Amino acid sequence: MKHTDIKTVLLDAGKVGEDVAVCGWVRTFRDSAQVAFLELSDGTSFSRLQVVIDKSSLTLDPECTKLGASVAVKGKVVKAYKGEGNELNAQEILLLGKCPAEYPIQKKRTTLDFLRGIPHLRLRTNTFQAVFRVRSAAAQAIHRYFHEHGFYYINAPLITASDCEGAGEMFRVTTQPWNAKYASEEEYFKNDFFGVKAGLSVSGQLEGEVAACALGRIYTFGPSFRAENSNTTRHLAEFWHVEPEVAFAELPEVIELAEDLLKYLIKSILDECGEEIAFFDKFVENGLREKLEHVANSEFAVCSYTEAISILEKKNSEFKFPVHWGSDLQSEHEKYLTEVVFKRPVFVTDYPKEIKSFYMKQNADGKTVAATDLLVPGIGEIIGGSEREADLEKLQTAMRERGMGEAAYAQYLDLRKFGSVPHGGFGLGFERFVMYVTGIENIRDVTLFPRSVKNIM
Ligand code: 4AD
Ligand code: MG
Repeated sequence: MKHTDIKTVLLDAGKVGEDVAVCGWVRTFRDSAQVAFLELSDGTSFSRLQVVIDKSSLTLDPECTKLGASVAVKGKVVKAYKGEGNELNAQEILLLGKCPAEYPIQKKRTTLDFLRGIPHLRLRTNTFQAVFRVRSAAAQAIHRYFHEHGFYYINAPLITASDCEGAGEMFRVTTQPWNAKYASEEEYFKNDFFGVKAGLSVSGQLEGEVAACALGRIYTFGPSFRAENSNTTRHLAEFWHVEPEVAFAELPEVIELAEDLLKYLIKSILDECGEEIAFFDKFVENGLREKLEHVANSEFAVCSYTEAISILEKKNSEFKFPVHWGSDLQSEHEKYLTEVVFKRPVFVTDYPKEIKSFYMKQNADGKTVAATDLLVPGIGEIIGGSEREADLEKLQTAMRERGMGEAAYAQYLDLRKFGSVPHGGFGLGFERFVMYVTGIENIRDVTLFPRSVKNIM
């Protein structure tokens, strides 16, 4: 159906006086003796279009006034009677789709909790429309940033035989019948589709390194899968992952890139999504805009793991999990560091090698690796990255210490054999970033159909 976007009708002063057709869903209906008002949304703008109906010249089908009904309206664009922008004087209203009263998106029942149970309809609400417009703007800005900075866009495979994080959190990919019986695990996998145990990738990093060690600067931006049993507001079984990888880069350049990227993304969102940010500021996180402006214009903190532990140890009596040198940081520690101590994003660096992945560059102290996590207020870890171990023998030793077989990583090891170079990169959790810029507190509310433990609606 040929129609004009509501955004254009609302904002384009040049449209005043023109006859147009618009399509959309009814968001409100108000009636009075002579005139009635319909507010329509078609997803193109945050603000809705007010349609003015002169009841003396147009009879209105009551179905066209129901919340959630879809309609097409022909009319003349006029300057809004009140406020800025334009409205539409209706000449003809056509019902496209009825919306009966059991429509679940009613004004009084729209808590995020409730809406999580109807993922296919929740996008009709202001909150979710705003989330997904911001998410789209963020994705576009990510590609723009890397394109402008000379990075090639790489698509890493999603099915893999190697576990990048070595944490055994891979979903298995198989075509075996559910009751297949074999004498041994080896027999079982030999008979499977790939002839070996295969799974969904937890990260595109290993392939990203392959590409960076030839093309220089690359990034991947795609889904990663984690079968971790953490039913938290920050974990999904399927999330989108932004992973740049840079040849000849050491840890300080990795940190610089992460900070520059985040600031660029935040500035883009502030520029492009003003209405959405104003909405979140008002209804979701008071002070959001100021927070984002501040973050975009101030320096992030940097703190070594060892320093972080000595700060945290002083507060051990207040933590559920007291820390000592060697402990992994829990969410409560991450939040304390970024929210209470530094009050801004903070890169924690140089973690004990035992609590980090095999591929991280081993520092000269023999105890730590050149890794970094970026912690942000409200969320905790949003980025995890490192310089990579470029020395073949050290890498092999780290793998042996973790009981990892070399066969599945032969190509990865070859990168250290043939013209090895220092290199590094990081992974940004895309949903966690969207949470950060919208103030939304549950990761299930920033992705279309969230997948998590016992949840695949
Ligand atoms: O810290 P992670 O596990 O690091 C990696 O996967 C590296 N291979 C990345 C790299 O260096 N190229 O994950 C990176 C980020 C985390 O900081 C977090 O933001 C996000 O990915 N993330 C998740 N987001 C949602 N749900 C999950 N289950 C996530 N696991 C990680
Ligand atoms: Mg991590």
